[in-house]
Amino acid sequence: MIVSREAVSGHEPVLIQEMLGLLVPHEVGQGRIFCDATVGLGGHARAILEHAGPQTRLIGLDRDQDALACARDVLAPFAQRVTLVHAPFSRIRSVLDALGAIPVDGFLVDLGVSSPQLDRAERGFSFQRSGPLDMRMDQSVGETAADFLARVSQAELERVLRDYGEERFAGRIARHIVEARDRGELDSTGTLAAIIARAVPGRERHKNPATRTFQALRLAVNRELEELDTFLDQAPACLRLGGRLCVIAFHSLEDRMVKRRFRAMADLATPSPRLRILTKRIVVASDEEQARNPRSRSAKMRAAERAA
Ligand SMILES: C[S@@+](CC[C@H](N)C(=O)[O-])C[C@H]1O[C@@H](n2cnc3c(N)ncnc32)[C@H](O)[C@@H]1O
Repeated sequence: MIVSREAVSGHEPVLIQEMLGLLVPHEVGQGRIFCDATVGLGGHARAILEHAGPQTRLIGLDRDQDALACARDVLAPFAQRVTLVHAPFSRIRSVLDALGAIPVDGFLVDLGVSSPQLDRAERGFSFQRSGPLDMRMDQSVGETAADFLARVSQAELERVLRDYGEERFAGRIARHIVEARDRGELDSTGTLAAIIARAVPGRERHKNPATRTFQALRLAVNRELEELDTFLDQAPACLRLGGRLCVIAFHSLEDRMVKRRFRAMADLATPSPRLRILTKRIVVASDEEQARNPRSRSAKMRAAERAA
């Protein structure tokens, strides 16, 4: 067990009550199945299991093995009703199919990274604690941030920083990073953060200048938008009629993708699977939650129900 219990207890799942109200609006009957496609530390999953009652089964996916170990611990009291799977949610249909779990009653997706991923220097997500340039949620496959930075052109890096990080100094930062790489200086998240700090003119109060670049690199390394796009392609058809899909996003690009997809699938001309949007207005955290849990400030939740 690599993630400590302290790390778990310090992690507060966002929008819990609002999520339960949308995903599990009333007592559910026997044989119901919910899928938490980003089970993480198991906080939302535990709330679903408690709220939906003793007849409910939960399938939890995560692409991070450490997160799954942690979720297994947190969900131990419900072990008989829980199945945890190490897989990216872009494989949702084949995972559920293999478990004989289609149709499901509800999906939750709580996007982004978990606190232990950010807090543990060796995962390489942090600009505050220097570590290897990794940034992979699934450390068993794929390209690390170091691999990505070793092969990317300056123009491509600039595009990634602008599109995924909404970084207005994308050009300057990309140039500084590529120059440092070519001098062989790019060896840790700490040096990367220092290079970015030197590239950016002036300072924003309350915001590390590396925030947007690290976010952009993380999105690129983990192909996060492609993952979400593929999930949204597959998930609605895996729902039973009346089953619900709830997505919590922390990045405007992800939220926009969800909004557009829900709208397109709610069009009456859309054949099955068709959705009905449940959140005409986006759901955000209450002032009280935002004050208690700063992470909740950028959370945006949308939900839809399968209508055909
Ligand atoms: C914000 S955390 C989820 C926290 C969780 N809701 C809880 O209550 O503890 C996001 C989790 O999603 C996982 N994740 C992100 N993208 C994923 C993907 N494409 N497939 C599977 N898991 C993913 C991350 O590894 C991380 O553990």
